[in-house]
Amino acid sequence: MAINLESLKGTYDRYPDEWATWKKLMEVAGETAEEFGFRELNPPSIERQELWTEKEEDSVTDEMYAFTDKGDNKITLVPEETPTRARLIQRRKDLKTPVKWYNTSKRWRYEDVTRGRDREFFQGDFDIFGIESVEADAEVIAAAATIYQKLDLDDRVRFLINDRQLLESILESHGIEKTEEAMKVVDDKEKLDREEFLEDLMDRGLSREDAEQVDELTDISGPILDQIDDLREKAPEEVQKSVDRMESLGETLESYGVEYMCRIDLSIVRGLAYYTGLVFEAFDSEGELRALFGGGRYDELVGQFGDRDVPAVGFAFGYSPTIELLKKEDRYPLKDVETDVYVLTVSESVRDVALDYATKLRKKGLSVETDLAGRGFGSQLGYADDMNAKRVLIVGERDLENDEVTMKHMDSGEEENLGRDEVLEHLRSEGLF
Ligand code: HAM
Repeated sequence: MAINLESLKGTYDRYPDEWATWKKLMEVAGETAEEFGFRELNPPSIERQELWTEKEEDSVTDEMYAFTDKGDNKITLVPEETPTRARLIQRRKDLKTPVKWYNTSKRWRYEDVTRGRDREFFQGDFDIFGIESVEADAEVIAAAATIYQKLDLDDRVRFLINDRQLLESILESHGIEKTEEAMKVVDDKEKLDREEFLEDLMDRGLSREDAEQVDELTDISGPILDQIDDLREKAPEEVQKSVDRMESLGETLESYGVEYMCRIDLSIVRGLAYYTGLVFEAFDSEGELRALFGGGRYDELVGQFGDRDVPAVGFAFGYSPTIELLKKEDRYPLKDVETDVYVLTVSESVRDVALDYATKLRKKGLSVETDLAGRGFGSQLGYADDMNAKRVLIVGERDLENDEVTMKHMDSGEEENLGRDEVLEHLRSEGLF
């Protein structure tokens, strides 16, 4: 029987050339997390289904890779890590808050596969537990912004920020009935044209007049601080505090120097049920790709899993859509697979010397390759080129008799003779280590 060699739909065979960019992106996210003091954790990839099914159902519940194991336990591959983290916080009552955690790992959802939406995918989650104030909201958003600044994509992305409670109260105070139903449609607003949006609202039982009002009210969008007056006017008395909070979020983001990337947008709702207030999502500025990351405040989720109430805020960074953005911006690959030095043996007789160089250079942290196949000069050089070697150190018998070796710069093609003992110093002076 012929075996199907394709990977499963929505899963990807990432060969080293491609993986190098993913790895680089993970490094940028990890480095940013560390700079902000987030600690890396490593929870399981399979969990009990109840972590997702016992709370209010949402978009993820239907997409789980769920199964019953041999012990008759109802298990799922983790579709998103937030409930796992809530479980971990609930379990360890000794943890002093704030707790700041990040990690990047695989998640699984049975989704319709599109550009930037896979069935097996990487997310980088950043969360702060135990802080109710806006400072934590601003810090997670600033951390996300820093990733895009480091990638030099900060002017190509837009962070759209909203507060679910604020939106709900605005809709209610304008006499809209069925606000909960309306908010589910608002969540899809960016994917629908106006008529489709109104139709969907009416399908959920809203009158045309109410649907049009929802459309108008959720159109509020712009730099946070510019929109505050408008928001204050539209928001009922009981949620003026949420408007104040949005204002201080705008001010704090300004202090972080990231406010230019952020906008308030009343059409952001998010599909996950556990968010209690702040919600945010990032998109490419042309709006072509699916969300680059998403997050928000979920002050009640931890409390649903036990007797400890811990407020929380965080987001998950999406690797697939960010890679798509890098491609769109002609910034892909971020990194090539490279070998620092290929040590070329002109003949079998110099193999000992070549291996000695390789060992010494590896001890300096360089990636070094030598011939494993007994190939000739030309084919070794060809291989070094294929492997993107920066330098080729040519070790030949005749050179060695003069106490010399040859260093070839693969970029320029230039060659220079070096004293046998000058190799390390030479590579150091050229910044290879
Ligand atoms: P989410 O909006 O479901 O939120 O996912 C966050 C991001 O992960 C999305 O914006 C997207 O970039 C990426 N993502 C989601 N699904 C896929 C997929 N099928 N393929 C590729 N990328 C995907 C959450 O998951 C929340 N747990 C985030 C969070 C953390 N909220 C608070 N803390």
